[in-house]
Order: sequence, then C-alpha cells, then structure tokens
Amino acid sequence: MADTGVSRHQLLIDGKWVDAVDGATIATYDPSTGRKLADLAAAGPRDVDLAVAAARRAFDDGPWRRMPAEARARLLLRFADLIEEHADELALIDTRDCGKPYAFIRDIDLPNMSDLVRYMAGWATKLEGRTIPLSRQDPTAYLSYTRRQPVGVAAQVIPWNGAVLAATWKLAPALAAGCTVVLKPAELASLGPLRLAELAVEAGFPDGVVNVVTGTGVDAGAPLVAHPKVDKVAFTGSVETGKSIVAAAAGNLTKLTLELGGKSPNVIYDDADLDIAVDGALGAVLYAQGEACTAGSRLYVHRSIIGEVRAAIEAAVPKLRIGESSGRDVVVGPMISEQQRSKVARYVDGALEEGAEIIAGGARPRDPGYFLEPTVLGGVHDGMTVAREEIFGPVVSLMPFDDEAEVIRRANDTTFGLAAGVWTTDIGRAHRFAHAVNAGAVWVNCYNVFDAALPFGGFKQSGWGKEMGGEALDGYLQSKAITISMA
Ligand code: NAI
Ligand code: MG
Repeated sequence: MADTGVSRHQLLIDGKWVDAVDGATIATYDPSTGRKLADLAAAGPRDVDLAVAAARRAFDDGPWRRMPAEARARLLLRFADLIEEHADELALIDTRDCGKPYAFIRDIDLPNMSDLVRYMAGWATKLEGRTIPLSRQDPTAYLSYTRRQPVGVAAQVIPWNGAVLAATWKLAPALAAGCTVVLKPAELASLGPLRLAELAVEAGFPDGVVNVVTGTGVDAGAPLVAHPKVDKVAFTGSVETGKSIVAAAAGNLTKLTLELGGKSPNVIYDDADLDIAVDGALGAVLYAQGEACTAGSRLYVHRSIIGEVRAAIEAAVPKLRIGESSGRDVVVGPMISEQQRSKVARYVDGALEEGAEIIAGGARPRDPGYFLEPTVLGGVHDGMTVAREEIFGPVVSLMPFDDEAEVIRRANDTTFGLAAGVWTTDIGRAHRFAHAVNAGAVWVNCYNVFDAALPFGGFKQSGWGKEMGGEALDGYLQSKAITISMA
C-alpha cells in the first residue's frame, strides 16, 4: 500500500485513535492512478455513539466550556500555525486522495484555511451579547441582556472535493464558538481531514473536542445526523443527500445548516474584456475538473460576440493541462471515481442526444485514472437536462442571449442559487445583475474569489446558512435573553 503521509487511518474519539468496534475498514484510492492508498476505519452506529458521547462529555463536563475565550483563540492560532507549517504536506495528501490539482490546493485552499482559522480565532474573544432596555417597563425595574452561547455538539458531514478545505470551513467556526465536533469526512477522501485532525490534536484541543469518524454515508453519516445527542448538523454535499439529512434531523429538530449544489450562471456581455472573460469563465467551470459546487456551468454570451467567444474557447480548451493531480502545472485532474466519470459522461451523451454539439473537448482518455477532457457544449437550450442539473464535472454549456432582462430571467430560472458571475465593463449593468441575480455569491469580472471574512452560502435549494465570515458563527451559537428584576 502507498505511503499516504498520514500516520493514523483510524477514528479519532476522545483524543484517542481507535479502530472501528467491529474492525471494519474501507479503502480509499488515488483517482489519478486508480491505485489503493489506504484502508481506513469504517465507523458504524456504535462508533458514532462513542464519538457523540465523547463530544457530549467534552461539551457538558470538560475543561472546554470553562476555558477562557482567549485560551480558545490561542488553540485556534496554534492550529492555524500548524496548518501553515504543514501546508505542502496537507496539499499533497489531499491532492492524491481527491484528485483536485495540487496547485489549487496548495496555493488557494491552504492559505484560505490558515486565514480562516486565524479569522475565527479573532472572533472567539468577541462573541458579545447586548443589553436591551425593556420597552414596556420602568427602566430601573429590570436589567435584560443577551448572551451568545455555543449550540453544543456539532455533527459535520463533508464531501470529497477539496476535503481539507471543507473540513476547515466546518471546524473553524464551530471551535471558535465553543462547540465540540464530530466530523464525518467523505469516504472517497478522508486522508486530508485525518491529517488535519492530527494537527488539531497537536495544537492541544482538549480530548473529545474534535472527533473524526470515517466511513460511508449510510453507516457513519446517517446515524450521526440522526443522533439524538447531537445539537447541530452542518452538511456540505449533494442536494439529494441534503434532503435526506433534513428528514433525519427533523426527528430531533436538530439545528441545521446546508451547503449544497449549484447550477451557476456566468454571463459575458459584449462590452467585456474578452481575453479576461473567456479565461475566467472557462476557469470557473473547467479548472479542477468542475468538481466544485460553484462551477459556472451555464455560460451565457451576448449573441453579437458568440462567434468570437467560441473561437477563443476552441483555442483555449485544448491547452488546459490535464494530468495526475500532483503534477505542478496540472489544472484539470481526474474525476474522483469511475462512477463520477460515467455520470458526467452520461450528461454529455444525453445532451448530444437532445441535439447539442461538442465545441471543444469531449474525449474520455483511457485508464489508469478517471480522466475526462474538459468539454464545452453548443446548441444547448435552457430546458435541457445538461442546463438544469448539477453535473459536477468539466462540462459547460455555451448559450447566446440578446438582452439584459432576458439573461437575468434565464440566470434565475433554476432551483439553485449558489453563485453567479458577470463580465462587463459597464458598471451600472454589473450592479444591476448583481442585485437581481438570486445567488449567495456574485462575482463581477472575476470568479471563485473566496475570503475568510466573506460569508459564503446559497439561496434557494443551494442551502441554508453561511460558511466563513462572521455569519458562519451564527450556525454554532444561540442567543439567550436574561432578565433580572432589580426590585
Ligand atoms: P453526497 O452528498 O452523498 O456525500 C457527501 C457526504 O455526505 C459524504 O461524506 C457522504 O458520506 C455523506 N452522506 C451520504 N449519504 C448520507 C446520509 N444519508 N446521511 C449522512 N451523510 C451522508 O455526495 P456523493 O455521494 O459523494 O456524490 C453524489 C453526487 O453529488 C456527485 O456525483 C456530485 O454530482 C454531487 N456532489 C455535490 C457536491 C457539492 O458540493 N455540490 C459535493 C459532492 C458531491
Ligand atoms: Mg480517494
């Protein structure tokens, strides 16, 4: 078996690395080669019980609750330093396990991770309440104030695309708020989150504050999100699984935040700087093989420039470097699995059957590795499956539009609302689009710009609640109103 760079392939429960109680394991693979990387402990309901019990004890009775906020902030700062010190290593582990190109993880995800942990460390000492004068009382009769308290035990379920990043987006606000956590990484990419958990242990979080259960969605994820001792569930992944998690959490009315999929529109106006716009729009969906929830998979281009844009795409797409994800100049890695590759290929085949044509790409390079050439489709109309469903692969539909009202209506004609992009040099047009589009993130003349200070999260079926920014803390805090009679 390959050296994964992670010393523990076990579950982290109460500060100890342990096997699953029944000894079960699950294999994880390198999608660039199809080679097995490691066998991981596969948690089941009994392991989930143990992890939740540990998180529960750590929250209810452990030193964590009594720890001064400044000490919590210091632990987070130490954690951020460790992430930074181990950035190359974390990036390499994650790239091999999930297939996202190394450069994206090392140069974009890792800096964002240490930034976010530091940003959240800053919040730990600033979780203030308010004093509120009662409106119907003699002002000297009562003192009322609010306190923001941690929700409790947070169950966090994350996907495989950019696993270390997803894990950090979840852990940082929960820990800053003072919650304890049971993290369930995706079975296809758990190695990065496991290494991150080792660093959390090294940073010195008390036992039971960070627990990790690896395993499948059915055996580990489902019992975790339905667990009666869990106070809050945070999920990132597909809409379908999101809906089943809502149903599971409904049994206990567990608090819930969701970061789900998207079908993000990207609009190029005729006044845009075309070199920047075409490169940006292709990057928005084809780099990192389109396995991103924000993928700008509906590309609307003003009819007057569509020929020019098409020619630029035909020239640019074959130059996108495809290869093993650890290659330093690779921008398109493999799909996470053969299953994902066939699923994406079926979308392309279906579009062709419905009358679309391939403008660029479309080939399925041979094994080993689950590669798929970046693919640009023409002849797509809004009603086609390929224009409506999240594909989660390097596939984009190029569609013409004629005027502003039309393209805004079409951009919003989707059940999703995660992100949107617009490319124009007309400032009024840019703002009008940004205000009118139903999406949680809007990028003007750029795409996929994330920041620790900026809240990220979807409208409509793209989710509930925000990650990053001060708003991410809202999901892990609840405010209590306290009233004292001064009589
Ligand atoms: P998924 O959404 O089912 O998996 C995400 C996480 O949820 C994993 O950790 C998984 O183990 C867990 N999970 C699965 N079922 C669960 C359940 N019933 N209860 C609790 N946890 C559960 O995504 P999956 O199966 O990896 O991929 C399915 C499709 O979803 C992909 O083909 C892709 O199109 C899409 N997807 C979208 C993502 C996004 O961020 N928009 C992320 C991952 C996948
Ligand atoms: Mg893997």
